[in-house]
Amino acid sequence: MKAIVITRAGEADVLQLREVPAPEPQPGQVLIRVAAAGLNRSDVLQRQGRYGGTDPAGQIPGLEVAGTVEAVGLEVQRWQRGDAVCALLAGGGYAEYAAVDARHCLPVPAGLSVEDAASLPEAVFTVWYNVFQQPGLKAGENFLVHGGSSGIGITAIQLAGAMGANAYATAGSAEKCAFCEEIGAVRCINYRTEDFEEVLKPVGIDVILDMVGGPYTPKNLRILNPEGRLTFINAMQGAKTEINALEVMNKRIVISGSTLKPRSAGFKAALAAEVEQRVWPLIEKGKLKPVVHGIFSLDEAADAHRLMESSRHIGKILLRINN
Ligand SMILES: NC(=O)c1ccc[n+]([C@@H]2O[C@H](COP(=O)([O-])OP(=O)(O)OC[C@H]3O[C@@H](n4cnc5c(N)ncnc54)[C@H](OP(=O)(O)O)[C@@H]3O)[C@@H](O)[C@H]2O)c1
Repeated sequence: MKAIVITRAGEADVLQLREVPAPEPQPGQVLIRVAAAGLNRSDVLQRQGRYGGTDPAGQIPGLEVAGTVEAVGLEVQRWQRGDAVCALLAGGGYAEYAAVDARHCLPVPAGLSVEDAASLPEAVFTVWYNVFQQPGLKAGENFLVHGGSSGIGITAIQLAGAMGANAYATAGSAEKCAFCEEIGAVRCINYRTEDFEEVLKPVGIDVILDMVGGPYTPKNLRILNPEGRLTFINAMQGAKTEINALEVMNKRIVISGSTLKPRSAGFKAALAAEVEQRVWPLIEKGKLKPVVHGIFSLDEAADAHRLMESSRHIGKILLRINN
């Protein structure tokens, strides 16, 4: 099969289209004929050799795909050849075929194209865990997501709104902010022209989903309400950051964080089941809509990475495969 292989750690052009053996579905797995794969920021870090301390040479990136089930391994009950599914992977999505734990597959939601479905798993699973399961965002609470126009951000804004919370966001341009407000943010702060702390201190935030870290942390702690929750999913401006312990104590703030990719197969299966039960109906009712910025062919994966690194995109970037 054709796949994009990281030939060595480096710039986007290390992504090369290669002929590699197709995976075989193991017991408990399905083999998906991939129609589209979603890009995620960590694919860029992986390519650069900055994810998990491993040399990425020879790896196939790709944490999410959608397509049709081509074959099922032993012990798989739920899926049959021909079923339209999307799936969360631990890698290997930029390829014509991907073998994945059958429990990490979900049906393509009614009314969505298979390409739209490929944009969902990584962001929806991450947001569900880091906004709803862990910090327990509730209806009526104020929620802030930094990077509001990212794949994660557009998912978090819409899901928070669908669950009855008031979503706020930050983003790096007026156009991105306008988009965040169009999809439901009460207010999006353009961090290049405004200080989010000044705008949001009088509002008071209950839950913050942060991917920036660094200088944002003291500000995040200052705008949190008593019993506020701050959750890290990345630290793009620095993992070493300042925490005022008094602020944490006085407001009884809970700080947490997680990375999805290394979690156990059992954890991801339980998360998939809850996402299907709680989030899939919202997608089918149109309360969470995929936002796809651009679609590239598999052999244009390097261009797709360059676009992601430029941060010009709003929403998700996809690769179209087996069209
Ligand atoms: N921990 C987990 O399990 C997990 C899972 C999935 C994603 N993530 C993280 O969540 C974030 C979003 O992922 P994604 O795939 O949705 O990304 P994405 O679509 O590429 O969006 C990232 C956005 O962050 C902003 N940004 C980039 N560099 C920045 C910097 N140095 N400081 C501040 N903002 C910056 C950019 O928008 P602006 O123009 O607004 O700056 C960019 O569009 C990434 O950091 C990713 O690593 C974590």
